[in-house]
Amino acid sequence: MDTVYKPTIKIFPEESGVDRYVADKVIKQLSIKPDSTLTIATGSTPIGAYKLLADEYDKGNVSFKHARIFSLDEYWPIQKTNPASYAFYVQKYLIDTTDINPENCHIPDGEAPDAAEEARRYDDLLHTYPSDLAIVGIGPGTTYHIGFNEKGSEATSHTRYVTLDPQTIGVNSQYFPNPTDIPKGAITQGIADILMAKKILLLAKGEGKAQAITRTVNGPVGPDAPSSFLRLHPNVTVVVDAGAAGKL
Ligand code: PGA
Repeated sequence: MDTVYKPTIKIFPEESGVDRYVADKVIKQLSIKPDSTLTIATGSTPIGAYKLLADEYDKGNVSFKHARIFSLDEYWPIQKTNPASYAFYVQKYLIDTTDINPENCHIPDGEAPDAAEEARRYDDLLHTYPSDLAIVGIGPGTTYHIGFNEKGSEATSHTRYVTLDPQTIGVNSQYFPNPTDIPKGAITQGIADILMAKKILLLAKGEGKAQAITRTVNGPVGPDAPSSFLRLHPNVTVVVDAGAAGKL
């Protein structure tokens, strides 16, 4: 039987508290180990933290020069020039705003002709550079996904092609000018890959994430709530605003 741990929980009255906490953790990580590998979420939730990191970089308080980042996931298929792609997101919020070397920014290739082959390539690369710190978001509604590990994902899962949950498609289609253009699938790091990180920050903001957070922290650990597998990791901090903490 796997050991189940109790995550540390940090609750901030406002979203800005979440942003500051996460940015400070990244700054601290890079000051201790400038060539850290960071796993990064690419949803709306961490944008505030990435903006703070860009500000801190401008002020000379942090450098990403030797850092390496791995995105949790990417839609498949998708063009990198599509503003809804995570390749575009990483360019906009990290490459354009900091000194990170674009060659050290890894994202599953949404343009790869064969998703399974691309997933294997990405998984191999992940294992070459184990993550020091993972910034993870949580899915909308009752998807309880981390990365794009939708319901049914196992703790032992690795990087692979997955089909998106209808709730995920419903919410994320807002980022596509023509909502029906949202891809039906994605390439995502598996749960086992995410759990390899030395430390994990799970971020959530707003009342819409309150159910997801309480299910993750208080419910049974299992594939009907893939986010609950985070409790198999001994060093997870759940970083939430008052809204997302509302059902704890
Ligand atoms: P969000 O996405 O940050 O845009 O809410 C999180 C997720 O779907 O994992």
